[in-house]
Amino acid sequence: MDRIRISGGRKLSGTIPISGAKNAALPLMIASLLTDQTLILENVPALADVRQLRRILGNHGVDVMYAGKRPGETPHDGQTLHISAAQIVDTTAPYEMVSKMRASFWVIAPLLARMGEARVSMPGGCSIGTRPVDLLIMAMERLGAEIEIESGYVIARAKNGLKGGEIVFPKVTVGGTHTALMAATLAQGTTVIENAAREPEIGDVADCLNKMGARITGASTSRIVIEGVAKLSGARHSVLPDRIETGTYAMAVAMTGGDVLLEGARPELLQSALDLLQQAGVEITTTNHGIRVARNGAGLEPVAVTTAPFPGFPTDLQAQLMALMTRANGTSRITETIFENRFMHVQELARLGARIHLDGETATIEGVPRLKGAQVMATDLRASVSLVIAALAAEGETIVNRVYHLDRGFERLESKLANCGAAIERLSA
Ligand code: UD1
Repeated sequence: MDRIRISGGRKLSGTIPISGAKNAALPLMIASLLTDQTLILENVPALADVRQLRRILGNHGVDVMYAGKRPGETPHDGQTLHISAAQIVDTTAPYEMVSKMRASFWVIAPLLARMGEARVSMPGGCSIGTRPVDLLIMAMERLGAEIEIESGYVIARAKNGLKGGEIVFPKVTVGGTHTALMAATLAQGTTVIENAAREPEIGDVADCLNKMGARITGASTSRIVIEGVAKLSGARHSVLPDRIETGTYAMAVAMTGGDVLLEGARPELLQSALDLLQQAGVEITTTNHGIRVARNGAGLEPVAVTTAPFPGFPTDLQAQLMALMTRANGTSRITETIFENRFMHVQELARLGARIHLDGETATIEGVPRLKGAQVMATDLRASVSLVIAALAAEGETIVNRVYHLDRGFERLESKLANCGAAIERLSA
């Protein structure tokens, strides 16, 4: 298994291009199942999760073609995918595939809406809590689906098609909202989703679905209304920039000091995180090209924050912020309200010398003057990158093991950081 070696203590300066958002690219690829015409997606990040979803879609009979580079394109440009689900040959998504990536469970909604049935294994994915699918099932039932659970599979049927209905989520869920949205586009009549997730990736998927002929209003608000249509067509859509990647590199620069342009980043996608960084003493400026992040000599001020659905502070940046606060001038508090068990990085950060105390959902981080390199291991995607951030500021050498988690969600992480002066390299197994 690959490892990453980092020698800490170097400032970052230069430009980091921000990739297309993983959490939009995955549901957008899944939306291709809703039409027999070709969906063209631009700015798709080159990630292990994208490749895994391609395999899963392939199993349903979907062709995914990677378009070649155009003149003037560089390795930094996102990929263009031509996705064609002209014929769906299999409505089962097997355990071996779905267990590797939780979001692949979402194929259930378009398969059900278009084919009238789907059989999808219960998901796996990052080990950050129980992550049930009860609300996704509830959403499909509200649209008239019959659901059975058998031998670890969710079987959804709607022989005469789905019917519009009212879906009220008792809790904000991104996956639940994607499921409801995709299922409702082809249902007969009107669907109203109340307490919908407002994450920007939901808005991006709704924009693409509307280009495909869907009739969705209110996406990015907590009340989404969908008028069902009989058929969707192909479209061309460019994936929005990754706000989690943006926030991660912003925190890396805050950690090491320096001055970096996050090229293509959009501040409105992560305002809560940028506000917090400014509060901690980091300089943030928006330019025509993206977001500039700088920190000179002065130290970091501690912060107190609670994770929340968008527009609140995202759980997917919690681990990275914690790594940053290990070096603050004082005591910070971070409360995780979205996922239980999402503090696996705490014990690994402690190996680097961090002082963190856990009490239920809240971590108290006492800033220390220095971290020291060590061998560390990560258990999920965002936790792994928090170890990279800590290692960039630690004295000496850190080896991050189990790098496959990073490859699931961060495109060319080592080269993006190395180009800005970090001493980071991959050690291939
Ligand atoms: C998505 C993101 C993930 C992010 C999370 C929260 C993708 C591919 N993944 O995950 O990176 O961390 O949103 O912003 O976009 N819940 C239930 N029942 C359900 C579904 C969810 O109780 O049926 C709970 C979950 O356990 C969790 C909360 O709802 O406590 C939010 O989960 P959800 O928003 O659904 O997360 P995902 O869509 O899995």
